[in-house]
Amino acid sequence: MEKTIASRRGFLGALTAASYARVLGANDRIGLGFIGYGLIGKQHIADFKKMPDVELVALSEVYKPRMEEGIAFMGNPNAKRYPDFRKMLEDKDVDGVVVSTPDHWHALMTILACAAGKDVYVEKPLTLFVQEGRWMVNAARKYKRMVAVGTQRRTARGVAMAREIVASGKLGKVHSVRMGAFRNVMPGFGKTPVTDPPPDLDYDMWLGPAPKRPYTSHRALYHFRWFWDYSGGQMTNLAAHSLDQMHYIMNVNAPTLVSSHGGRYALEDDGETPDIQDALFTYPGFILLYSIREAAAGPRDPNAGGSQFIGTQGTLVLRGDNLLIPEMKNNPENLIPRFLGHPVGGPRATDQKPVPYFEPPPREEARPEREDTMALNKRDWLSSMRTRKLPFCDVEDGHRVATATHLANISLRLGRSVRWDPAKETIIGDKEAAAMLVRPYRKPWDQVLASVL
Ligand SMILES: NC(=O)c1ccc[n+]([C@@H]2O[C@H](COP(=O)([O-])OP(=O)(O)OC[C@H]3O[C@@H](n4cnc5c(N)ncnc54)[C@H](O)[C@@H]3O)[C@@H](O)[C@H]2O)c1
Repeated sequence: MEKTIASRRGFLGALTAASYARVLGANDRIGLGFIGYGLIGKQHIADFKKMPDVELVALSEVYKPRMEEGIAFMGNPNAKRYPDFRKMLEDKDVDGVVVSTPDHWHALMTILACAAGKDVYVEKPLTLFVQEGRWMVNAARKYKRMVAVGTQRRTARGVAMAREIVASGKLGKVHSVRMGAFRNVMPGFGKTPVTDPPPDLDYDMWLGPAPKRPYTSHRALYHFRWFWDYSGGQMTNLAAHSLDQMHYIMNVNAPTLVSSHGGRYALEDDGETPDIQDALFTYPGFILLYSIREAAAGPRDPNAGGSQFIGTQGTLVLRGDNLLIPEMKNNPENLIPRFLGHPVGGPRATDQKPVPYFEPPPREEARPEREDTMALNKRDWLSSMRTRKLPFCDVEDGHRVATATHLANISLRLGRSVRWDPAKETIIGDKEAAAMLVRPYRKPWDQVLASVL
């Protein structure tokens, strides 16, 4: 994918589309506004605080205690508070917006920020449903905004090495990839009763475009992840990272067939999304199995400590040190079971000795230095803000990854496979499934969205 859109004509066009977007000079400090000060929002502020070319200008939060903690943490006595993020988008000191809210807000906030002339760093998973991703890409391109996705793991040197190894053909034909996330959080996170929302939480603004539901403490901070209204569960939460790496390493951007099985079988809490899920994706020339186990006893990780890229001549295990396992080249006849030996006319073994397809590289060559991928991804976005070249984890990449994970959840919820047309971005031959590619926004956010599409 072309990672530069900064043609002179395009850039001047950007000035017309969003005339209040500041043109950043090489020595200008970049003004950042943050939406959401939660688990990851705090990390983002900590990372950007260390960067001397950045000024932390503003914070938007709907939970007052977090607003106050966040403002103090920013360390800028002049940092502005915006309970309503839309006011922050009018602030001319804000060049870029970092969106760290729950998933159901990512698309609308990003689109509005683009329309307001801001560049955006938006957390993964990019979207709550497939159609949002195309709206976001269109907005980024229309308003000539740099929209980076928080899939920082792609920036790891080990991932670049893995991509080179696959492209080199060393592994032979890579026909399957296995990835997953295993842990054991039995018995789960409990059941939370319906109560009034805390007086210092603007629950209506937290819900935003999501359906109105009675408040429980799980339907807000952190635990929103287990509810379909705000998230796709671990399939969108964790697979967003793994599939992003895989798309980059295998140089693909969409499956054509997806089938997923599972459910919330084990955890004894009020979450809705699966705790056990397998998804099988057909990509051009290979398959991917992604497994989620939230309540797995015993060996947690069947993938040898990483994601497996399995070829005909070798397997690459993507982890800190990219383990490369060469296959032994054998005479196929020698691999046939023999027991007492085949009777006359059966296959005959030979004396041919197995030899490795390649020598594994010395360990130090395969082991990239430990990196701070979060900081690298942010640095890349800041650089794209100055150069007007697309960021490494661009919104289109995030959209394609999120799409694959949403298709898995659609398959799981319908109980059948779905065929995907990546060019038309539609599900083939299944109207019920295709209808799940889009969801309604709650009023008045449907009108807000319509005004910027
Ligand atoms: N890149 C990563 O490695 C990584 C890690 C963790 C989380 N995430 C992603 O970050 C997002 C947030 O996750 P989290 O764990 O930080 O959640 P969280 O619940 O801890 O934080 C989200 C914050 O957003 C605030 N918020 C909600 N609606 C808002 C609105 N309308 N205006 C302003 N603030 C609003 C909430 O009050 C909350 O403080 C999720 O999409 C998650 O997938 C990414």
